[in-house]
Amino acid sequence: MWKSVLAGILIAAFAIAAFLAIGCATFFGPAICAIDRKKQAFTPTVQSPARHDLYMREGAPEPYRDKQNPMEKTIGNIVEGARLYDLRCAVCHGLMGVGDGQGGASLAVQPADLGRSLGQPLYKDDFFYWSISEGGAPFGTDMPPFKNDLTDRDVWRILTFMRASFAEQGGPVADDAAAPP
Ligand code: HEC
Repeated sequence: MWKSVLAGILIAAFAIAAFLAIGCATFFGPAICAIDRKKQAFTPTVQSPARHDLYMREGAPEPYRDKQNPMEKTIGNIVEGARLYDLRCAVCHGLMGVGDGQGGASLAVQPADLGRSLGQPLYKDDFFYWSISEGGAPFGTDMPPFKNDLTDRDVWRILTFMRASFAEQGGPVADDAAAPP
């Protein structure tokens, strides 16, 4: 009797081991398992891996390197940052910064989910200052450069707002989170 129980346990253990080794996709197909894998691995808005590769290798280029946000986290700066974000960025990155804006839907490289990088301590202020100022031209994406359009102080105010609102929010959002207020 105990032998068959033992055999049962062994078979179950083997099945689990095989499942882990061969992978979910082999059993259930990639469609189901891809979702799982996406949640596990940290994907820092891999919309433009080139941007992230460069930053990880060399840091932000001059004159953006090591610059820190000089704007204080006051309600005034956050509200002004929110106003500018709604006006200039939400069309592509979405109201909640997850990258679901109407304007981005048809772009070859999709707008980034800003909360992911904002929630990562490795991505310092200079990453955002540089990305927003120079845009995606160096990487062939449609992220516009804002350096001639917004003052430095406004770029920093937008970052102040984004840090206050989007940071660490990278995961899936509730359906109603992206709805207009
Ligand atoms: C026309 C659509 C569009 C608009 C408008 C836009 N973006 Fe983007 N943005 C993109 C796309 C596409 C990417 C991904 C490709 C890349 O990184 O170059 C991106 C990437 C970024 C990144 C890099 C994030 C990361 O983690 O890779 C930041 C930061 C960013 N945008 C901030 C902003 C801000 C702030 C504004 C408004 C001032 C803005 N964007 C306006 C399309 C847009």
